[in-house]
Amino acid sequence: MAKDSISKIAYKTLQQSKSIAGFAHKQISSRLMNFILPDSKLENFDIDKDLLIQIQNSMDILREEDWNDAEKNIYPKKLLFDEPWLRYLTQYPKIWLDMPNTWDRRRKQNFDDLPKSVDKDNYPQYYLRNFHHQTDGYLSDFSASIYDLQVEILFNGSADSMRRRIIKPIKQGLEFFRDRKTSSIKILDVATGSGRTLKQLRAAFPKERITGIDLSDSYLKEASRYISDLDGDLIQLIKGNAEELPFKNDSFQCISCVYLFHELPRTIRAKVLNEFFRVLEPGGGISISRFNSNK
Ligand SMILES: C[S@@+](CC[C@H](N)C(=O)[O-])C[C@H]1O[C@@H](n2cnc3c(N)ncnc32)[C@H](O)[C@@H]1O
Repeated sequence: MAKDSISKIAYKTLQQSKSIAGFAHKQISSRLMNFILPDSKLENFDIDKDLLIQIQNSMDILREEDWNDAEKNIYPKKLLFDEPWLRYLTQYPKIWLDMPNTWDRRRKQNFDDLPKSVDKDNYPQYYLRNFHHQTDGYLSDFSASIYDLQVEILFNGSADSMRRRIIKPIKQGLEFFRDRKTSSIKILDVATGSGRTLKQLRAAFPKERITGIDLSDSYLKEASRYISDLDGDLIQLIKGNAEELPFKNDSFQCISCVYLFHELPRTIRAKVLNEFFRVLEPGGGISISRFNSNK
C-alpha cells in the first residue's frame, strides 16, 4: 500500500516535471526567437491563465487515468516510468541546433521545405509538407531521429500517456475473440512512426502478433532500431499507405492509430477509415488516439 502511494507520487512528479520542462522549453525558445528575429509575426508562448488551468486540469485527469489503468493491470506499471533519457539527451541539442531552420520556416510560412532528393511521385500531396514546421517533414533520417522528443515537448510531456489511451479499448474489444489462442490475434498499428506506440502495445500485448505500418522509410528505420530489443515476438514493420493497406480483407482483429487523423485531409480520413474496416475482421475494433484539432 505504502509502496503504491510512493510509486504514484513518483509517477505524478515525473509527469509534472516533464510538463514543466515542455512549457519552459517553449517559453525560452519563443522568447529567444522574438529577440533574435523581432520582425517575426509570432507571439510569445504566453498563454491565458484560465486556459492554462484548463490544460493542467485535463493533464491531471489524463495522469489519473493512466495510473488507474496500470493499477488495473491493463498495462504494466513499468511503462509509466519508461523514459528513454539517453535518447532524449542526444536529441535535445539537435533540436536546438535545428531551431533557426524551424523559425525561418515559420516566419516565411513555408510548409513545403522538403529534401531535394525526395521523389514526390511516391507520396500523396498532403504528406509532402512540414507538419508542425519540422525539418524535412517525415522524409529524412534527421527528422526521424529527433521526432520523439519533439512530440514530447509539443505535448508537454504527455505524449506516451496519450498513446496509452488506445490500450484499454483494445483490451475490451479483443474480449470478442477470447476463445482464440492469443498468439493468433493480430493487431495493426497504422502510421506507427518511430516506434513509441509499438513499445506501449508490446508491453500490454506480449503474445499477440503486432504489425506497424508507415509511409516513411526513415521513421520505419528509426522504429526498427528502437524496438529491436523489446521482449516478446518480433514486431513486423511494413512500408505502406494507410489509404491502401497492403493486406487482405479481414486480416486483423484490431487496428490502432495514434496521432495521424489530424494530419489527414477530411476526404482522406474517410478513405482511411474505410480501409480500416476492410482489413478488420467482423467483430474487431479500431482504437484511435488523436491530437486535438478543430479542422
Ligand atoms: C504524428 S506521426 C505519429 C507517429 C506515431 N503513431 C506516434 O505515436 O508517435 C504521424 C505518422 O503518420 C505517418 N503517415 C502520415 N500519413 C500516412 C499515410 N497516408 N499512410 C501511412 N502513414 C502515414 C507519418 O509518416 C508519421 O510517421
